Amino acid sequence: MDRYLITGGAGFIGSNFIKYLFGKNKDIRIINIDKLTYAGNLQNLKEIENNYNYTFIQEDICNRKSLEDIFNLYRPDYIINFAAESHVDRSIESSEEFIKTNVLGTQVLLECSLDRNIKMFIQISTDEVYGSTETGLFTEISPLRPNNPYAASKASADLLVGSFYNTYGLPVIITRCSNNYGPCQHNEKLIPKVINNSLDRRKIPVYGRGTNVRDWIYVMDHCHAINTVLDRGVIGEVYNISSNNEKRNIDIIKIIINKTKEILQTRGLDSKGISEDLIEFVADRKGHDKRYGLDSTKLIKTLGWNTITQFESGLEKTINWYIDKKLILK
Ligand SMILES: NC(=O)c1ccc[n+]([C@@H]2O[C@H](COP(=O)([O-])OP(=O)(O)OC[C@H]3O[C@@H](n4cnc5c(N)ncnc54)[C@H](O)[C@@H]3O)[C@@H](O)[C@H]2O)c1
Repeated sequence: MDRYLITGGAGFIGSNFIKYLFGKNKDIRIINIDKLTYAGNLQNLKEIENNYNYTFIQEDICNRKSLEDIFNLYRPDYIINFAAESHVDRSIESSEEFIKTNVLGTQVLLECSLDRNIKMFIQISTDEVYGSTETGLFTEISPLRPNNPYAASKASADLLVGSFYNTYGLPVIITRCSNNYGPCQHNEKLIPKVINNSLDRRKIPVYGRGTNVRDWIYVMDHCHAINTVLDRGVIGEVYNISSNNEKRNIDIIKIIINKTKEILQTRGLDSKGISEDLIEFVADRKGHDKRYGLDSTKLIKTLGWNTITQFESGLEKTINWYIDKKLILK
């Protein structure tokens, strides 16, 4: 039975990935280490929490002693590092926790993985490490030019991960994905915020004029890409993950408001007061990257991955999930 040590598994992507892995293969063991910061939520894992081959450990990945004990006890074959401070706005307010978790935490995991016959260490990284570009797409060999403290901490971790491959031969792979959306994402992030504010008839803040461009991928397609890398990825390589779905913030916000209204109407629920009038332009984020553009040809051509979920259907699933959550909480 393969043993997967997953960090940050109570967060958005990590929890979706754990459910994805169990959905693919029941015959595996998963150990989920999560500190349960404000961003971690065990409700995300309710449906698998009693699986006999699943273990949750509340721990900080920076805690070297505990991590050594966990590695000794569970002897993982695969490490997949999702744990991170992940919100750019918070990193602009204060970067300390970002450096601790994203850089030092990754270093602890790398150290613990040495001399333990690990089959693969996957570092879950982001398109933000490449910085911003007005034109063209970043490939895996584009230089790292992060512009905010979150992106800089993730770029630092990527460099560290690469150095453990070159120095010690640790079997690492780095994946760099574009913006995810889907169920279980924290309300502070753009898409859940627009859905929830629409449902609550609250103002929807938009930075600047909303012209910044992001590339959106459904979280399950990201999970599928990570699983493809687990199956067929080449050790020492970096893989970009993108669904080639760029949108200006203002456009995606309008699409979500109108889609939320339409879904509520279709479900016979109250949609009064939901309109683009909820949009409120606010002062731009400091150092706001204009555009991220990612080329994932390498993943598609060499590993055979492809986007499964079209934006429209992914968004519908996501909006329905947040509506259902609100109805349950009522
Ligand atoms: N969300 C995106 O669009 C996106 C895109 C590309 C890459 N990523 C990367 O994917 C990973 C997961 O992102 P997410 O959106 O799920 O983030 P998230 O904030 O939803 O989840 C992060 C999880 O890490 C845990 N955590 C934080 N500090 C920890 C520590 N010191 N020790 C143990 N656990 C800790 C939190 O409790 C939380 O459960 C991150 O590494 C992020 O950089 C995210």
